[in-house]
Amino acid sequence: MIVHLGPGERLRLERYWRPGRHSGLADPRRQQAAEAGNVGGVTRPRTHWVFAAAYDPMTRSLERAILGERRARLLAGLDGQVLDVGAGTGANLPYLRQASRVFAAEPDAAMRRRLAARLAQAAVPVELSSDPAEKLRYPDASFDAVVFTLVLCSVASPDRALAEARRVLRPSGRLLILEHVRGTGTLARWQDRLTPLWSRLNAGCQLGRDTAAAVERAGFTLERAEYSAPYPRLVPAQPILEAVGRAV
Ligand SMILES: C[S@@+](CC[C@H](N)C(=O)[O-])C[C@H]1O[C@@H](n2cnc3c(N)ncnc32)[C@H](O)[C@@H]1O
Repeated sequence: MIVHLGPGERLRLERYWRPGRHSGLADPRRQQAAEAGNVGGVTRPRTHWVFAAAYDPMTRSLERAILGERRARLLAGLDGQVLDVGAGTGANLPYLRQASRVFAAEPDAAMRRRLAARLAQAAVPVELSSDPAEKLRYPDASFDAVVFTLVLCSVASPDRALAEARRVLRPSGRLLILEHVRGTGTLARWQDRLTPLWSRLNAGCQLGRDTAAAVERAGFTLERAEYSAPYPRLVPAQPILEAVGRAV
């Protein structure tokens, strides 16, 4: 794009570029549809080679300073059969040491390849699948725990993903959530403004999802829910919700 300025005229970028203005992706649903491929009525995320390669280096210091302790608090005691949905490169595996078996579902081939390379270091048996959160291959009531960490911001349909989680959880099973979620007031307005660009840079991640509401809509009750804002003020991917849910 070439922009010609008259004498004394200042460049105001938003006149020429607004998120989605040229791409038609301002509507988050259209954006999500473009981000995902539709396979058999289920939206699968595209393969994100660059995001997958950058993910571990990009998050290493965050894991050490902020996310690691939250993962440990949430996951350390989980036993039985555990499903890690959107398992990414396997960041949860070091914390799932008490599980009898972990099932890691990761539909993005680039993330899954990195996850597969990490399995030799896992303390417990891990089975990998390419299932999207919205359509899991597992029978009803198969798992003692279902884990979503930094995933419900990226799935095509949080409602369908959580309905699947509820279906595959045993009646006594637990839902474990670690997600950045919608803020309030000015932060929420900025999250909405930034999401079109942010999601392009971060493999479809949406900043403004009200995940606690989606969890309750899916028929879970939250027996523990803590919000924290651990990042510097200008980071829009907060607050972080750390929660444990049970089916009602
Ligand atoms: C930010 S990464 C988080 C990975 C990992 N859970 C973690 O805590 O580091 C988001 C992950 O969600 C996955 N994802 C996106 N859409 C998905 C879907 N529809 N079903 C399952 N996983 C999905 C992506 O492939 C990616 O691995």
